[in-house]
Amino acid sequence: MINKGIILAGGTGTRMSPLTKAVNKQLLPIYDKPLIFYPISILMLSKIRDILIIVNKGQINQYRKLIQDGENLGIKITYQEQSKPRGLPEAFILGEKFIGNQNVAMILGDNFFYGQGLSENLKKCTKLKSGAKVLLHKVSNPESFGVAKVNKRNKILKIIEKPKKHVSNLAVTGLYFFDNNVIKYSKTLKPSKRGEIEIVDLLNIYKKKNKLTADYIGRGGAWLDTGSIEDYFKTFSFVHAIENRQGVKIACLEEIALSNKWIDKNQVRKQIKFYGNCSYSNYLKKIITPSA
Ligand code: G1P
Repeated sequence: MINKGIILAGGTGTRMSPLTKAVNKQLLPIYDKPLIFYPISILMLSKIRDILIIVNKGQINQYRKLIQDGENLGIKITYQEQSKPRGLPEAFILGEKFIGNQNVAMILGDNFFYGQGLSENLKKCTKLKSGAKVLLHKVSNPESFGVAKVNKRNKILKIIEKPKKHVSNLAVTGLYFFDNNVIKYSKTLKPSKRGEIEIVDLLNIYKKKNKLTADYIGRGGAWLDTGSIEDYFKTFSFVHAIENRQGVKIACLEEIALSNKWIDKNQVRKQIKFYGNCSYSNYLKKIITPSA
């Protein structure tokens, strides 16, 4: 069982400048809540309560103002600063103490997942005992992502970062599940041409040992990212459309905590006070009021 999760929320967000000049990208809004709520919600839906958030230097206080140490949500949040982005696997080197001798999930702070059956799928992934697991999703622009070539039995044959030539349209999404060897393997990685250690190199270590497996989000699911302003805006509009049409909120952390029985209604009332008079609070009021 995986009980620990890392959210990598560092990075300079250069492609989103000037929006990200003064504010960490993950604190910008996706419609009615900060982007960081979405990856936190994914870990909570996976029943992961022990979370490390890696942020840029000097930004811990901004996060604390918003989500504190997680007790209000029935989870435990630890923060760690990253002085400079050195590649995704650095999360496992920085997070060595946090991970201890356990297995770990990692989600990129700017990835967005939504869809029917997602929670069930996630809970399956956290059962990982050894090896590594990635979640794949079909995209129309595979050249923008890590891409996996799989055979007819869904076995991964190859993983390539941002391939120039078409390999497959299955992107490797920014949610990964690893056994404890991930710390050791990450330390052996050498920086690529762009000067960073690469997640594909880490995954390929598992692949070579026949320890890499894949799962799929499936056609009914959405995986969006917020790397560029265009993608960010698409994700923003998606949440707006779904929430207004259905009257439910995506990534309402208190709602998930309440349904996981990690907090009670009183704790939700405290959160309503904390957020103040806003539509998010009105939604919280609705979920703790028995319907007529
Ligand atoms: C990173 C990974 C890539 C993955 C993507 C998911 O790319 O390197 O393999 O498909 O996240 O969002 P980046 O967004 O850093 O370009």
